[in-house]
Amino acid sequence: CGIVGYVGSQSALEVVMAGLKRLEYRGYDSAGVAVPADGGLAAAKKAGKLVNLEKELTERPLPTGTTGIGHTRWATHGGPTDANAHPHLDNAGRVAVVHNGIIENFAVLRAELAERGHELFSETDTEVVAHLLAEEFSVTADLAEAMRLVCRRLDGAFTLVAVHADEPDVVVGARRNSPLVVGVGEGEAFLASDVAAFIAHTRSAIELGQDQVVELRRDGVTVTGFDGSPADVRSYHVDWDASAAEKGGYDYFMLKEIAEQPKAVADTLLGRIDAAGSLTLDEVRISASELREVDKVVIVACGTAFHAGLIAKYAIEHWTRIPCEVELASEFRYRDPILDSRSLVIAISQSGETMDTLMALRHAREQGSKVLAICNTNGSTIPRESDAVLYTHAGPEVAVASTKAFLTQLVACYLVALYLGQVRGTKWGDEISAVIRDLARISGSVERVLETMEPVRELARSLAGKDTVLFLGRHVGYPVALEGALKLKELAYMHAEGFAAGELKHGPIALIEDDLPVVVVVPSPRGRSVLHDKIVSNIQEIRARGARTIVIAEEGDEAVVPYADHLVRVPVTPTLLQPLVATVPLQVFACELATARGNEVDQPRNLAKSVTVE
Ligand code: G6P
Repeated sequence: CGIVGYVGSQSALEVVMAGLKRLEYRGYDSAGVAVPADGGLAAAKKAGKLVNLEKELTERPLPTGTTGIGHTRWATHGGPTDANAHPHLDNAGRVAVVHNGIIENFAVLRAELAERGHELFSETDTEVVAHLLAEEFSVTADLAEAMRLVCRRLDGAFTLVAVHADEPDVVVGARRNSPLVVGVGEGEAFLASDVAAFIAHTRSAIELGQDQVVELRRDGVTVTGFDGSPADVRSYHVDWDASAAEKGGYDYFMLKEIAEQPKAVADTLLGRIDAAGSLTLDEVRISASELREVDKVVIVACGTAFHAGLIAKYAIEHWTRIPCEVELASEFRYRDPILDSRSLVIAISQSGETMDTLMALRHAREQGSKVLAICNTNGSTIPRESDAVLYTHAGPEVAVASTKAFLTQLVACYLVALYLGQVRGTKWGDEISAVIRDLARISGSVERVLETMEPVRELARSLAGKDTVLFLGRHVGYPVALEGALKLKELAYMHAEGFAAGELKHGPIALIEDDLPVVVVVPSPRGRSVLHDKIVSNIQEIRARGARTIVIAEEGDEAVVPYADHLVRVPVTPTLLQPLVATVPLQVFACELATARGNEVDQPRNLAKSVTVE
């Protein structure tokens, strides 16, 4: 999750360790360093926080060198152990590599390496790269060229940084997907996941583009494409202060995390949909035959994760025809729920530590049910105590109010629903294939929503003096409305409520008064168009009573235009997937309103990121 590289005349270990500390905010659960020195290569790595690594380095000091790399790892595949920590070395211990991301074809490469006599000790994809680099270096004697040759053989999204004992004054980095920034100093150069790691030394930076390789030497840096062609580089001056640098230039972590959503969504899908468009979910360690036996799905979660569960119910019941209940984890066990070995319980939790959810899953397991966790934190308690886990790959979420974790929880829920549909062979086979294709494209739609958020921010600022905002939705738009209201409560401390639009006339409509802002999430006019028409009527009803309507509707939906005081467009998306795009404006809205009201965005009053009491 955090990468640092250094070449210069200072003690590399000191520079790298200080850089890793500046990247601690990114979250991690193990750390390691490597230094080419005295003709060899020395490395150290430890599970846990950086203090563990520091202790290791005090007890068993590495030789002093002026070139080095370091890494903090947020475990995704493979637990946070010493062995799985980076760097990884080849068999001869001459090359060390650190890595962020996922190499999708590592199993094939691993088998090829084993055939050529390499001994691989870990199950990690990173180790494969160390061996491949060693092989290529033995031919080219040029680490940058070796890196280019290796990258051309890798599938997936990866950022790699390596050093070699035979080129002790060189650090090489490669970027595809996760960011890598170069810092250029006087007689020294830096490489890091973000500028926070090196702004104490230099403010002159170069951001690497996709599919580029950089070679760092004391006297300069060379950037090429994976094919060796020279690359255009854009240098820039970093004028952020240290704390802004940690937030990637954003004022708040929440803004950064909202912006990271397209990537979080793509990463959560990565490697799970194969070229033929079907799903591979190896981490779901509940056999296909057990899944065919399931006669009821029960989802338990809290807060935002609960809203993901509410949306999942629509997808699961529609695609699998298995009845699905969703329950607040804190309520679940106390009502003596009906569970048995044919019930599949899904526990959704970003942190994996929420006590209410943990207690609910323990109760379910006591009743003999299988529990599948959907979780963002590798090795946390909830996945550890579950029968199976599907990790979301949102990366660490720092802001208390959940954003990117929510979108990835939705993706994971869709994957589970589709997978259940696939193994059970439901009659929705064709629709399922179409949805798999739509999901593979959805991250681009989220990106497009983010590009058009300025009017939403403006609107939010104009509503800063209001006391109440209501949210309405139908079908999956209903949980989206609940989530929009929750975000506003958490961040803006405003009275905000979400309602099913059809329920309005049974009570909540009495709340409507002149100029009351009401956000309406409108389903697609295509597909289930009856829903669309009904909600258009609901908008008319509230508008006739004075509400100020803020309408979130699909591009090209003209029917809503006459009734929208403010119109927010989202890309055309299949109904069940619409929450992935429709939630984003509500997050931006709440965040901006909180800022306008002078609230602390990342740490709202009275709230905790992870609640470990019942
Ligand atoms: C806390 C947080 C919420 C979060 C909920 C569930 O209440 O403030 O933002 O949605 O816990 O957290 P989990 O880690 O289980 O998803």
